[in-house]
Amino acid sequence: MSDQDKRVAVVTGATSGIGLAVARLLAAQDHRVFIGARSAENVAQTVKELQDEGLEVDGAVVDVRSTDGVRAWIQAAVDRFGSVDVVVNNAGRSGGGVTADIAEELWHDVIDTNLNSVFRVTREALTTGGLRAKDRGRIINIASTAGKQGVVLGAPYSASKHGVVGFTKALGNELAPTGITVNAVCPGYVETPMAQRVRQGYAAAYDATEEAILEKFQAKIPLGRYSTPEEVAGLVGYLASDAAASITSQALNVCGGLGNF
Ligand SMILES: NC(=O)c1ccc[n+]([C@@H]2O[C@H](COP(=O)([O-])OP(=O)(O)OC[C@H]3O[C@@H](n4cnc5c(N)ncnc54)[C@H](OP(=O)(O)O)[C@@H]3O)[C@@H](O)[C@H]2O)c1
Repeated sequence: MSDQDKRVAVVTGATSGIGLAVARLLAAQDHRVFIGARSAENVAQTVKELQDEGLEVDGAVVDVRSTDGVRAWIQAAVDRFGSVDVVVNNAGRSGGGVTADIAEELWHDVIDTNLNSVFRVTREALTTGGLRAKDRGRIINIASTAGKQGVVLGAPYSASKHGVVGFTKALGNELAPTGITVNAVCPGYVETPMAQRVRQGYAAAYDATEEAILEKFQAKIPLGRYSTPEEVAGLVGYLASDAAASITSQALNVCGGLGNF
């Protein structure tokens, strides 16, 4: 496949965990991949790591909470690789606590990082990224099983991810006639740096060890273990493929059976 024929994918939060696995897989599947995250050092390091693997990857710093920043990032992707074909909204944060004690600042930051960002990046990809003019495209939002069920001590996170699922269904129906599909991937427990931070948070909240929290969580998963970032990326790679053209407005779980809804 010549460079000109390759599709361009943009992936937010691609320096760690699920986003990194997604960037690596899409690049291996012949996409030109433009990544972003807040840490310039991590973006540069990840770009180098993936380029050293022979993959066509570049990137720039972005904070998905900034409308101007997101616009500049999508413009940088266009300048580097051409117009956008595939968007993966992956950047996100955990966050919660006893709801009565949650500071307004935390609530707003979780909603801004996890939900408003998905609208922002998607709108910019459709406009500045040129996706709106195409007759084939993919928008893939990394939501969570917490976007379908309530997570105790995770009200802002659950609310943000339910919002992502709702946005996905509405935009999927809106864009269905255009050939651009919109889907959410809903991971359950996935072993990443975020998952480690979440276990630390619950250990503190329940006055338990992180090992005890890990055992408790694993016991809830029918498969008995966390999913891997690569297993989540596998579904993203499939949704990005031509074979997935008739899948739209869906929220699909990768969760070891945790959520059967
Ligand atoms: N791990 C799980 O168990 C799990 C389960 C369900 C859903 N998810 C979802 O999957 C996605 C990825 O999670 P993960 O576990 O892979 O997390 P992770 O290992 O913590 O990676 C998060 C990535 O997002 C970037 N990021 C965070 N805030 C950002 C911001 N404001 N702007 C731009 N980039 C930002 C981080 O880089 P910087 O910090 O440098 O910006 C990093 O690259 C999230 O949306 C998360 O909610 C995870």
